[in-house]
Amino acid sequence: MGTIQFKALTFNYPDQTQPLFDHVTLQFDASWKLGLIGRNGRGKTTLLKLLQHQLPFTGQLVTDLQFQYFPQAIPDSTQMTRDILMQLGQLDDATFWQVERELRLLQVAPELVWQPFNALSPGEQTKMLLALLFIDDAHFQLIDEPTNHLDQQGRQVVASYLHQKAGFIVISHDRSFLDQVIDHVLAINRADITVHQGNYQTWQVAHNQQTAYEQQQNRQLKGDIKRLTKTAHQKAQWSHAAEKGKNAASVKTESANLDKGFIGHRAAKVMKRATTMANRAEKAINAKQQLFKNVEITAPLSLNQRPLKPRQTVISADQLVLQQGGRSLNQPLSFTLQAGQQVALTGINGAGKSTLLKALLTLPNTDHITSGQLKLNPQLKISYLPQDFDHLSGSLAKFAAAKHVTHEQLLSMLRKLGFERALFNHDLATMSMGQKRKVALARSLCEEADCYLWDEPLNYLDVITREQIQTMVANQQPTLLFIEHDVAFVTAVATHTYALRPD
Ligand SMILES: Nc1ncnc2c1ncn2[C@@H]1O[C@H](COP(=O)(O)OP(=O)(O)OP(=O)(O)O)[C@@H](O)[C@H]1O
Ligand SMILES: [Mg+2]
Repeated sequence: MGTIQFKALTFNYPDQTQPLFDHVTLQFDASWKLGLIGRNGRGKTTLLKLLQHQLPFTGQLVTDLQFQYFPQAIPDSTQMTRDILMQLGQLDDATFWQVERELRLLQVAPELVWQPFNALSPGEQTKMLLALLFIDDAHFQLIDEPTNHLDQQGRQVVASYLHQKAGFIVISHDRSFLDQVIDHVLAINRADITVHQGNYQTWQVAHNQQTAYEQQQNRQLKGDIKRLTKTAHQKAQWSHAAEKGKNAASVKTESANLDKGFIGHRAAKVMKRATTMANRAEKAINAKQQLFKNVEITAPLSLNQRPLKPRQTVISADQLVLQQGGRSLNQPLSFTLQAGQQVALTGINGAGKSTLLKALLTLPNTDHITSGQLKLNPQLKISYLPQDFDHLSGSLAKFAAAKHVTHEQLLSMLRKLGFERALFNHDLATMSMGQKRKVALARSLCEEADCYLWDEPLNYLDVITREQIQTMVANQQPTLLFIEHDVAFVTAVATHTYALRPD
């Protein structure tokens, strides 16, 4: 297999004042399993678009490879899945077995291809589209966030599947997933782009070592700058005094003219040394500015919860069976959420987790319950973070007004979530997936509430933001019912975990 090379790649979207990529030179091998990482909005998806020549750029892309992108655009999701896959993969009845072979490896029931695409769960849809990528080895695969809609078991299956394959770039914010899949890392950092041989964990170790080295350099340079500035200052004073002495000498006697020459020479020497010291101090300051250029900056988060009576019951479910479109979804479930608890709902895709949150929001006359009881204290104010946010568009000001939070509050929360100020005037429709997710999350954090219902809050969010939220929940202990497939997060914050089992 060949290589892929960018030479002096420079690109920005029309409304961006700073280039997203500025003379980037980059090379990687087409046989690698390459993990593309970086904070939300750094340009990961854009880089995949540039590889496919979907956006105009300056610089050069050198490769003779053909690329394939996941997730593929679905022309009409009401069509039968098999027809969609044949169309996208340019296959016919005689060659469709290739997809069936990949679907078996992805542990998808083969009869599902006879269902309309939009009747499949998001996790099943993901696997169907992934199966198309590896039907031949003529392409290099560009896989943009395959894990978002997968439950824990699905992530495991896809991780083992991709581990068997080679020749792809995969973008993901799921650390344990990346560790199982990749052998190289391409990191879009704050100030540069780097390539590392190894998986996420080894990249993280190298990154931390670099930061520690820079901190040590910083201490040393700080000392140097202080010393050099002090000496330069002293030398400048001496030189000034000597210069004054020279002038005073010149108005005295003839014999004093000898001294004038001597003093002038000394003053010049001291002046030269003072300038050298000042130059060295300036160099040290410049070197210091180069440090920490890739260190990510974060601020602590908080949410606007109202205090509740301790141990007050907020939600209770008794032998609850949920339904969607007349179909019962789960085996009976009983649980309670009390004030100050963080309860995780787990279960495979399609077990009814999101339906449970929707049932809570439509009480008392919900049509999402087949049998059993679900109670929510009606006095309480709920903040709901839905799973779906893809449709967001319009200005941040309009979004804030529609969601009853102040514009200032929303912007200040977004800054804490790592949003650049330059983005504040952009339309939500042009924001990256993670940026949109941050807007939806910031709204819930700003909203005054007694209880929070969060449906997959971490989807699309970068690792640093995940850690910020984890710390905030651990510190503030909000009354929270949440669904999340990021194992590290659930383990760290859930006080109780309840599994929804499919019917
Ligand atoms: N069509 C567009 N018009 C204007 N700006 C855009 C457009 N698409 C993306 N951007 C901006 O370019 C930057 C990079 O976006 P991109 O989608 O490549 O980020 P990303 O690294 O994939 O982020 P995420 O992790 O959130 O998916 C972001 O600041 C985004 O707001
Ligand atoms: Mg992206």
